[in-house]
Amino acid sequence: MFYDAVANTHGLAADPFKALVAPRPIGWISTFGKNGVVNLAPYSFFNAVSEDPHFVMFASGGRKDSQRNAEETGEFVCSLATYELREAMSRTSAPVAPDVDEMKLVGLTPAPCRFVAPPRVKESPVAFECRYWRTIELPGKDGGPSTHAIVLGQVVGIHIADEAIVNGRVDVTRLKPIARLGYGDYAVIDKVFTMKRPAPTSEV
Ligand SMILES: Cc1cc2nc3c(=O)[nH]c(=O)nc-3n(C[C@H](O)[C@H](O)[C@H](O)COP(=O)(O)O)c2cc1C
Repeated sequence: MFYDAVANTHGLAADPFKALVAPRPIGWISTFGKNGVVNLAPYSFFNAVSEDPHFVMFASGGRKDSQRNAEETGEFVCSLATYELREAMSRTSAPVAPDVDEMKLVGLTPAPCRFVAPPRVKESPVAFECRYWRTIELPGKDGGPSTHAIVLGQVVGIHIADEAIVNGRVDVTRLKPIARLGYGDYAVIDKVFTMKRPAPTSEV
């Protein structure tokens, strides 16, 4: 099948777009509000976009608390959503008032960061401490404004649970990250295969 993606005439029961860009890593974003309250929410329009220096992005459909807090305070933290933490992760996606501490609400423990103020999720084996860089507002279909925006931040500190490091490498099967697919579906990374790149090779 083929369909016009602007008119979005897919003719299916549900929009297939997110099922086709899958799996998407989940950035579990913690921020402080200007009111000093911890905010935590998952974002699957999330990825690493550069490694030198390290930059990550998350995209917000509407100016939600995570985007507003990152912009207003200049900091955010991305903890890794794992299979073990899947239920808590999902619960932090519920819309709650800005004066509610979402980490406390779902029974997670705030752990201190070194370079930024917002806490990371202590139960999560990996966290990126990020300095907000800028927001890119995306245009609407007609080229006018939309409510969608990409929030970019530089990773300035990285936490890794010691148990996840085996022979000097991160063993992702020990982390068991979850990733977002389409609809209500998720994947878990618990199996890995390796391929050699053709020589001569350059690191990308
Ligand atoms: C796995 C998962 C991924 C999500 N990804 C996004 C996303 O990429 N962008 C977005 O705007 N909302 C996303 N959401 C919805 C937000 O988590 C939800 O709107 C949340 O209430 C936003 O919280 P905040 O206002 O505290 O930032 C996702 C929800 C789940 C469960």
